[in-house]
Amino acid sequence: MMESAAKQATEQAREQGGRMKAELGGVVVLDFGGQYTQLIARRIREQQVFSAVLPCTSSIEEIRKFAPAGIVLSGGPSSVYDPQAPKCDPKVLALGIPILGICYGMQWITHTLGGKVEKAARREYGRAHLKVECQGQAQKSALFSGVPESLRIWNSHGDHVRTLPPGFCATGHTDNAIASLEDAARKIYAVQFHVEVNHTERGTELLRNFLFRVCMAEPKWSGAAFIEETTDAIREKVGNKWAICGLSGGVDSTVAAVLVQRAMGARLTNIFVNTGMLRKNEFEQTLEMLRDRLKLHVIGVDASDRFLAQLKGVTDPEEKRKRIGREFIAVFAEEAQKLQAGEAHGEIGFLVQGTLYPDVIESVSVKGPSATIKTHHNVGGLPEKIPFALIEPLRDLFKDEVRRIGKDLGLPQEILVKHPFPGPGLAVRLLGEITRPHLATLQDADAIVVEEIRRAGLYERVWQAFAVLLPVRSVGVMGDGRTYGLTVAVRVVESDDAMTADWVRLPGEVLERISTRIVNEVAGVTRVVYDISSKPPSTIEWE
Ligand code: XMP
Repeated sequence: MMESAAKQATEQAREQGGRMKAELGGVVVLDFGGQYTQLIARRIREQQVFSAVLPCTSSIEEIRKFAPAGIVLSGGPSSVYDPQAPKCDPKVLALGIPILGICYGMQWITHTLGGKVEKAARREYGRAHLKVECQGQAQKSALFSGVPESLRIWNSHGDHVRTLPPGFCATGHTDNAIASLEDAARKIYAVQFHVEVNHTERGTELLRNFLFRVCMAEPKWSGAAFIEETTDAIREKVGNKWAICGLSGGVDSTVAAVLVQRAMGARLTNIFVNTGMLRKNEFEQTLEMLRDRLKLHVIGVDASDRFLAQLKGVTDPEEKRKRIGREFIAVFAEEAQKLQAGEAHGEIGFLVQGTLYPDVIESVSVKGPSATIKTHHNVGGLPEKIPFALIEPLRDLFKDEVRRIGKDLGLPQEILVKHPFPGPGLAVRLLGEITRPHLATLQDADAIVVEEIRRAGLYERVWQAFAVLLPVRSVGVMGDGRTYGLTVAVRVVESDDAMTADWVRLPGEVLERISTRIVNEVAGVTRVVYDISSKPPSTIEWE
């Protein structure tokens, strides 16, 4: 899985080479396996400058295809002295294209150009204080233009720069180490800290300085440009083949479907599967909306019996995800065969998915040794061999970026604000074995949670709000009788990108209404609890 995911990521990044037109003058981020690499790309796109991530091993020709206005060298978990330490082609530093090295990127530049990197006496992790001082330079560094001389920054490194490479000067220090350096004549800049994370004060301004004062990039990138470029790239990729799309009615797959439909028209058929684990009435309502309001060509397949049969007796969350992933592919393959025998006049070679970047990072470890957190079915839960090539046009984007693209595509607000829903659906919110009666109980409780959150005007202000059914019975009393019923946990979280999340401090009256309604209206539930855990260390879903 890991190897094929890495291959796929590389291929995907290469495809973008064709996608990004040279005149956009974007920035290439070369990835050394850092945790924040995609965040760097996203921060650059926030400045309306196109940005694509490429593996650090990309050849000079591959990089040149992008005609980049600048190159960022990302952070990474290695030490430059590790035998397996990731490297770029050193010629990257001689292209005359402005460079910004971040963290490991700074260490690699130093090491490659003749400076010295060594293990720090103490690891710098978390907040630190930066003093901007340009030693031996007549002018202030362009990178630090307009920012105060003292900044709170965010670090995460075990090695640091001991000796500068020839021609470089230090532009900032922490108490512990050289924090930034540059050779302005060669337009090579580097910072030991992470400009891309919010904890670094004025991080965005430093990045803007690099983009607009050093690279002279132009802010030409926009949702419209993304739509145009992606549509062209999909057309090129699919040739005259046909495709199916696994559509769920959520914002990600709907944006992906609308984008691909722009590129392929009637050669795209969307398949919306009722796994039996959707929210209450969701299958019928969503199908109507996709067909009637969005005019998408959608086949609705009610496959709940077969999904439930696959899950009989299964309690392990990862096993649930894998079986659901397998069954999805089986349904798609069957539907593709039917299409092939009927209305499709060409080979169905592609499966479109609305995978986003946070799904990728949490499911597969593409370059580094970071552990898989959960195999989200969009990505990791798919079987190793599937009979389609994947089209995942949103794979590099974060949710709020997808919502913006959806808005530019004219999608109704109702879809744009819809809360994320996991591919395996209620299967990962019903702890333990899945049974039809328990699914119905969970659907009813969940509908009440969402209704009350909407009624309180909070739906669009929170990231997700849902119910979880616990396989725990507890004693209650109703009327004059003792009850021994199920427990519902209510989970409401706020988040920017699902990578971290905090529980929402709901008003007492809202919690009270949710609790009272669930125990009164949902048979078999006698207790309601509110989940007050953040991510990390918990995850948003319970399984
Ligand atoms: P966790 O639980 O990992 O969830 O904090 C992060 C975000 O991802 C969603 N999620 C999934 N999405 N397949 C999906 O397509 C999955 O298996 C899956 N598991 C979690 C979750 O709802 C949250 O928005």
